[in-house]
Amino acid sequence: MTREPFNIVILISGGGTNLQALINASSRSSFQIRAVISNSASAEGLDRAKRSGIDTFVIEHGSFDSRIAFEKCLAAKIREISPNLIVLAGFMRVLGSKFISIFRGKIINIHPSLLPKYPGLNTHQRALEDKESIHGVTVHFVTDELDGGPIIAQDSVPVLSSDTTETLAARVLEREHVIYPKVVEALAAGKIRVRNEDA
Ligand code: GAR
Repeated sequence: MTREPFNIVILISGGGTNLQALINASSRSSFQIRAVISNSASAEGLDRAKRSGIDTFVIEHGSFDSRIAFEKCLAAKIREISPNLIVLAGFMRVLGSKFISIFRGKIINIHPSLLPKYPGLNTHQRALEDKESIHGVTVHFVTDELDGGPIIAQDSVPVLSSDTTETLAARVLEREHVIYPKVVEALAAGKIRVRNEDA
């Protein structure tokens, strides 16, 4: 029996190294990247997608009067693509509750900390300031609570006394590139299911 393709849309804002890891994994996985959407026209990730023949769309938040108007346009584009899953990969806009309720249980995010520690920005710097001995990455479902939805997977790295924010970020990013494709593949293969009351 052939399985229906599991289509994903990836939302980015910048460099897109996680996007690249997903592109690299997709050829040997059961998910298909149907489109990449960026809220910034200068996001390097757009070139990565184009090089791989993936449709790209730019919806610049700055060209809308309000967050609601931006998210309405974003939601309409995603509805058109009709993916099984929305994958936030370095998408640096907080999504509002209306948007999240439309796609409830279908949005995942990767965050560079061991949540619930260090939601928000500057996670590596904060971990260093707190003299943490371990740090890491979390993949979670997106809910109304910033970086607070149900956790799907985590991986940790050691924090070294010689670390700077750059070296620590690079060590975490290496783990991100492994864990994110694995989680998307597990969702595509039906190995992870969402219970409505959780996400
Ligand atoms: C990644 O470290 C990702 O975890 C982080 O942005 C970086 C994007 O890198 N995301 C967040 O901080 C979301 N709150 P990339 O564009 O090279 O994938």
